[in-house]
Amino acid sequence: MYYDDGSKLGGHFLAEFGGGHHLNPKHTSYSFCNSLLKAVLLFAMITLTGLVFFRAPESPFQLPRSIYSSLHFSSSSVYNSRSCSSADSVSKISEKLWLKQVLERSAMPNRTVIITTLNEAWIEQDSIFDLFLESFTIGNQTNPLLRHLVIIALDPKAFDRCSALQLNCYFLGTEGVNFSNEAHFMTPDYLKMMWRRVDFLRSVLELGYNFVFTDADVMWLRNPFLHFFTDDTDFQIACDHFGGNPDDLNNAPNGGFNYVKSNNRTIEFYKFWYKSREVFPGKHDQEVLNNIKHNPYLKQIGMKIKFLDTAFFGGFCQPSKDLNLVTTMHANCCAGLNNKIHDLTILLEDWQEYLSLPDYIREERPPSWSVPQKCGPASFGSHSPRKKNFGGRR
Ligand SMILES: *[C@@H]1O[C@H](CO)[C@@H](O)[C@H](O)[C@H]1NC(C)=O
Ligand SMILES: *[C@@H]1O[C@H](CO)[C@@H](O)[C@H](O)[C@H]1NC(C)=O
Ligand SMILES: *[C@@H]1O[C@H](CO)[C@@H](O)[C@H](O)[C@H]1NC(C)=O
Ligand SMILES: *[C@@H]1O[C@H](CO)[C@@H](O)[C@H](O)[C@H]1NC(C)=O
Repeated sequence: MYYDDGSKLGGHFLAEFGGGHHLNPKHTSYSFCNSLLKAVLLFAMITLTGLVFFRAPESPFQLPRSIYSSLHFSSSSVYNSRSCSSADSVSKISEKLWLKQVLERSAMPNRTVIITTLNEAWIEQDSIFDLFLESFTIGNQTNPLLRHLVIIALDPKAFDRCSALQLNCYFLGTEGVNFSNEAHFMTPDYLKMMWRRVDFLRSVLELGYNFVFTDADVMWLRNPFLHFFTDDTDFQIACDHFGGNPDDLNNAPNGGFNYVKSNNRTIEFYKFWYKSREVFPGKHDQEVLNNIKHNPYLKQIGMKIKFLDTAFFGGFCQPSKDLNLVTTMHANCCAGLNNKIHDLTILLEDWQEYLSLPDYIREERPPSWSVPQKCGPASFGSHSPRKKNFGGRR
């Protein structure tokens, strides 16, 4: 319980923390080492403030401030010495602890979390992330799911934004990559980030947590748990194109939305998937998945894969036309962040209009989407100002 209070305090302090000269990317030549340190120190603060709450609830601000300043001091000395190696090994351990704590705090009783990744390009005002959160608010009974959402921030600004919103946040750094930047589709940085994600999700499975992974350009309109397969399926994934049979490996999966149960098979599968990047150099995780889904090794380890029907888990590639069924809508088959924002904004307006209709009209003559307009298979590929498309599936 007090972890929750701690995290709020942590968020509060982060604002100060981010404003400090030593750790603000604006004021220093911010490095990977530095951002890692920031994350680790934040974790320490969250833990410590939690303890403080536990011991001295009447004066929660006194002690944390002194802890804050001592951490501030030590971080700046480490920074100045520019030696990252000892901080690295400390941070590896702390990172793991932090991840465990975030997952524990966020999970449903059956150890299931919802995970998304976030970077600077997706948090700007009126951006994808705002639409994503709004969808949970206006979706049918999706609001309570926000408590189980874990935001994986890929740069300090995304982390600050997440903390300010008092969501469950985790910082994931990747050596040698500046994830703040617009990462254009299929550039080396984009690929690194996609593969880092596969590797990270494997570690979540290893910690014993089931997860729904969702790109932030997936709108949550209904509770997807009501429409997942509840049999012994290990890995279920949304599709760009669904052919009608959930067991057919020829369905075209989209890595932007999947539900994975933690067990030995899925852990092995994620390792295999990650390793397969070496066999298919220059390909992103979704392309590689499309290749390895036929691999006999998956049968050998007993992996059970199912593909989700686009009638429920739709996207602009193959929109779910029946608003009485739609559960999630993904801005796939869409080039350019502005086009995504344009069409998703309209999509949420369509949804609200649908909700405002009388029951009998919703049941008998449900309307359909007025999107895609700027997205969709027709537009896709013809004009492509490939801007800020970081993390987005197309
Ligand atoms: C919302 O969910 C409730 C409970 O599952 C259901 O009764 C209601 O019909 C749903 N409304 C819409 C618009 O889907
Ligand atoms: C990373 O990118 C951001 C945004 O473009 C920039 O402000 C920052 O200086 C970059 N950091 C490094 C280490 O290049
Ligand atoms: C976990 O709990 C949620 C909410 O009760 C449920 O919908 C989901 O099916 C459960 N997942 C597993 C793996 O049991
Ligand atoms: C994996 O298998 C081992 C031994 O068969 C078992 O002890 C362990 O609990 C399994 N782990 C998971 C995550 O299912």
